[in-house]
This record gives sequence, structure tokens and C-alpha cells, in this order.
Amino acid sequence: MPEQRPTLDHEHLPIKFGTEFVIRFSRLLRGAAIYDQNHVNIDRLIHECVQTINSIIRSHGNFILKVARDNFFFNSTRIIVSADNYPVFKVFWQEMKKRRIGEVEFLEEVSGEHLREFVYLLLRPEENNESNYLYVKKQLEYRNIRSIEVGELEFFKDEEIYVDSEGQKKHSKEVYFRSIGLVKEVVESINQQKAFNIRKAKRLMQNAVDAVLQDDSTLLGLANIKNYDEYIFNHSVNVAIYAIALGQRIGIPKKHLSHLGMAGLFHDIGKTRIPKEMLSKMGKLSPEEQSVMRSHPVAGTELIMKMKEWGELSARMIEGAFEHHLRYDLTGYPRLTRKKKISLFGRVITVADFYDALVRPRVHNRFPYVSEKILGIMLERSGKDFDPAIVKVFINMIGIFPLGTLVLLNTNEMGIVTQIQEDTELIDRPRVCLLYYGDGEYRKGKIVDLKERDNATGEFKKSIVKTLDPNEYNLNVAEFLM
Ligand SMILES: [Fe+2]
Ligand SMILES: [Fe+2]
Repeated sequence: MPEQRPTLDHEHLPIKFGTEFVIRFSRLLRGAAIYDQNHVNIDRLIHECVQTINSIIRSHGNFILKVARDNFFFNSTRIIVSADNYPVFKVFWQEMKKRRIGEVEFLEEVSGEHLREFVYLLLRPEENNESNYLYVKKQLEYRNIRSIEVGELEFFKDEEIYVDSEGQKKHSKEVYFRSIGLVKEVVESINQQKAFNIRKAKRLMQNAVDAVLQDDSTLLGLANIKNYDEYIFNHSVNVAIYAIALGQRIGIPKKHLSHLGMAGLFHDIGKTRIPKEMLSKMGKLSPEEQSVMRSHPVAGTELIMKMKEWGELSARMIEGAFEHHLRYDLTGYPRLTRKKKISLFGRVITVADFYDALVRPRVHNRFPYVSEKILGIMLERSGKDFDPAIVKVFINMIGIFPLGTLVLLNTNEMGIVTQIQEDTELIDRPRVCLLYYGDGEYRKGKIVDLKERDNATGEFKKSIVKTLDPNEYNLNVAEFLM
């Protein structure tokens, strides 16, 4: 049996509860749209829903189910919606949106009669009328139903969610550093020709997928920080994380995402066959050395084929190892004798690998490009080197000011980018955590949203003037992101 961290179950409880509530409540809403209040089917649906609500109340106390943008939160924990449950959640979201209701709170155990009144109240208002939420709220007060409250649909308040997601961030951080440890272990076992624990790798990548689905900002932030010293291990983990986050955005199903993560994690495994001196050589490689270096995709493929433990995962891993230096137009290396389209995994990993290889300092490339420049290069080569659709999604994901970027604002304040806007038009207006200087060091200030405008003038309140080098300010960006 795979070992399970005891805290993990606890962290997943809100998701289980939230999901169960949404499913039962949506069923009830749908039923109420068809049957009248006293129909026997409604009695049954009410009974089921009351049981769910009250058992959550008994184990958890009061709870709030909140919808913000397309995300669902159970007491501020984001619910990961599985593909199976997605249609139900969508129905729930649409019904709530029509009524301008953004949250439903249960303060104490609820009676069947009150729940019945509430559900039929929800069905009464007209669609898309702004006062719907108020109507429901007033009616609940008027009818003296104190166990249920509704809140108006509103825009995302990130700070609230940030405060409540400390545990989640800690978990993401753990997944990141455990993955680095794992890559080290695997490289060592290959060097010593020992077997290694494949199940551990699979499990870790499943954890990484869960963490990315829940909130990818911490993991992407960690991947974007450039001051680590052990390039090769970090590079492997970063490629896995970029690949998972990218894969999720282009709609790769969850169960395949962890395979994609594995393929990303071990894409450069062939480098274990390249002499160490060459990997750490300063300056340009000779043509002979270059051809040795370019053998790593084939070496990696051979290694993977030899490892029987990988089982059916092998084919996926090979896509990452063999194809990651092949370009979209099938040039690049290894040279192909027979032209065959590059796999989806291969195309995703190529993009992730290219970006991470250029963005960080390392021996061959002591001065890293700023990400803005790399994304420009990628856009230019899109359609030739890279799959254009994937590049587009990747650029939106990274943003021109990636998470963790230290920036100077036109108000002369310094800040660190903590969240990128989903709206591509606002790619240069992320959320930024301001820094202030006190007691000899920089400290976390408040989070500002650069898309905010001044009410009177209509101008943006704050804008980014330029990016700054955190080393010059002796800043450990990671501390501010966590
Ligand atoms: Fe490579
Ligand atoms: Fe690589």
C-alpha cells in the first residue's frame, strides 16, 4: 500500500464535503424546478440534502460555499472539480449566477422545512435581476430562517483566499522540494545501476498535479525563482511543473497530467550518460562535445526502455525524453529518418524545457534572459519550433512579469508579483505585494491590484516601470511568495 501522509486526508475533507453538498443541492434545485413543494420526490431530495448539510455542520461547524469567477470554495478552500462532477457544478454555478448569489452559508443545523422554503425562494426571482440576491436575503429574514444566509455575487478577493491557503502553500512547497530530492535519488540509482522506487515518483507527481489544480501560483512561483544552485535537479522539477500547469490549461485530463509530470521530470534523464565535466563546462562546447551532448535524448530513451519498472508509462516517458529537442517542424535533434508528428506530450515538454533552460543562470549561460525576452523569442518561433497553440497558452500562463518578479512601480514603491491576471489584456497588470523597508530589512506590505483605476481620473492607480534584480536588494523572493 502506498504510504499516505495523515494530513493529506484532513486537507481533502473540505473538498469532499463541498463536492457532496453541491451535488445534493443541485439535484434538489433541479427537482424543485420540475415538481411542486409537496411532491414525494422533493421530500426525498430535501431529506438527502438536509442529511449532508447537517452532518457537515456537526463535524465542521458552520460552512460557506462561495463561487468566485469559475472557482468554488468551501470555507475558502478551493474545491477541485473532477471531470465527472463538472456538469453538476456548472448547473449550480449557472443557477446561482442568474440570481446574483455568490455564496450560501449554513450557520447551524437546518430543518427540512426551512430548506424547502429556501429552495423555492431561489426559484422565484427573475433571471439576472440585480435585486434577486436582496429579495432572497430579505425573505429569509422575514420568514425567520436563521440557519441560512446568502451573499451577493462579487469579484474575487484574493487576500482572503491567501490568508486561508497557508497550509496549501506549505504543501506545494513540500511537493516541490521532495520532487527535487526524488530526481537526485533517481540519478544516483542510475549512476550506481541500482533499481529505484517508481511508485514513489508516481505518487509525488500525483501530489504535484493536485497542488497545481488547487492553486498553481505557489508551484509556478517556485519554478520561476532563479537563485537555486543545483541546476539540473531544479530544471527537471520545473519542467514537470510547467508541463502540468500547461497541460491543465490545454485540457489534458487529470489522470494523464501525472504521466505528463513524470515525462517532464525525466526528460533529461539521458544526461546521466554524459560526462560530468562536459555538463559543467564553462563557455562554448566544441563540435565533438556538442554531438555528445546531443545524444542525450536517445540515451534517455534507451535508459527508459531498459527500466522494466516503468511498465506502460514507458511510452509516455519516451515521448518526453526523445522528442524534447525536436521542433514542431520536425527539425532539431535527434535527426529523424521517418517524419512523424510530434506527440502532444512532446510538444508541451519542449515548450516548458525551452523556457526553463533560458530563464535561469547556469554554466553555459551565465546571464539569464529576462522572461519577457524569452517569451518574445518563443512567439517569434511559434509555428516553426513550437506548437503555436501551446505557446499562446504558455505566454498567458507565465505573463510578461512572472510570479516572483521584483518590480518598481511609478509610485516609486517596490513590489513582488504574486498573481497574474487571467484576462490576457491585463497581462502587464498583475497583483503585486508591496515591500516596505523597516528594521534593516524588506517586509511584506499590502497586496495591490495593478488593474485598479482611479475613480476620478480613470487612470490606472499604479503601473510597473521596470523589473529589478532581487540580488541587488539582498532579497529572497521565495520568502515573499510563501
Ligand atoms: Fe534536454
Ligand atoms: Fe531539459
